[in-house]
Amino acid sequence: MQTHTTIASLRSTLDRARAGGARVGLVPTMGFLHAGHVSLLERAVADNDVAAATLFVNPLQFGAGEDLAAYPRDLPRDAALVAAAGVDHLFTPTVEEMYPTPVLTSVSVAGITERFEGASRPTHFAGVATVVAKLFAIAGPCRAYFGEKDFQQVAVVRRMAADLSLPVEVVACPTVREPDGLALSSRNVYLTAEERAAAPVLHRALSAGAAAVTAGERSASVVRDLMRDLIAAEPLAQLDYVDVVDAATLAPVEPLVGALRLLAAARFGKARLLDNLGVLAE
Ligand code: PAJ
Repeated sequence: MQTHTTIASLRSTLDRARAGGARVGLVPTMGFLHAGHVSLLERAVADNDVAAATLFVNPLQFGAGEDLAAYPRDLPRDAALVAAAGVDHLFTPTVEEMYPTPVLTSVSVAGITERFEGASRPTHFAGVATVVAKLFAIAGPCRAYFGEKDFQQVAVVRRMAADLSLPVEVVACPTVREPDGLALSSRNVYLTAEERAAAPVLHRALSAGAAAVTAGERSASVVRDLMRDLIAAEPLAQLDYVDVVDAATLAPVEPLVGALRLLAAARFGKARLLDNLGVLAE
């Protein structure tokens, strides 16, 4: 595996690979990798001739008072995991390399960014869209792999790529979970033992909501209340939002019909955790 710290180095390497006929797979990450990230790396390796991972804790997507300085980091371990997954190139730029001058250009996606994560973190998605647009510009034509764990993020990135005609195919990959249902997240390290034991309530609530839809419930408010009550019954969980929306647009649906997504976010002590699940109302 080759490590690149400059934009010029990664760009010229991937340009050369494509000139030789290679298909390129790209996996953007902020590091502190777990099995969820590794599933994306393995998919990029399996689907493409050349795979590249990026590891950059992007300051633009953290709000004031968020965990930018505390965000967990372990570059040697991450580099070993990326190499073990069979990835050919790892890009680990510094903040100065990515943003040598104050950033005056921002990519903002309207509509789908306004609710859920966007409501709780007003500057977050512009930070994500800006860095991902930049990574796509550096990597060039490729397939880019994102986790459904951050469902709204995939929707935002997909829309940005379509609206800007970026030569990138966005591929969404399933959420990897602990045996008790907790979605893997770099932020799970913030949980105390008690909070860790409480955290699977998110997945339990979403599963109960999905089961209700499958059993024929077609009222969004009934499904929402059912999930909210389950999370409210866990004293260590501070609910941020829970909802059931159209899977493609993230817009409200009432009565429930078609491909739906159940979304939830809650704080457990210092950790703010997200989860979601898909269900079809036929
Ligand atoms: P990060 O949180 O490091 O996540 C990198 C990728 O891994 C994202 O696409 C995320 O959805 C995916 N991922 C995280 N947990 C997962 C899980 N349990 N199962 C499957 N995939 C999972 O998301 C970001 O970084 C950043 O916002 C980024 C897109 C890199 C832009 O800075």
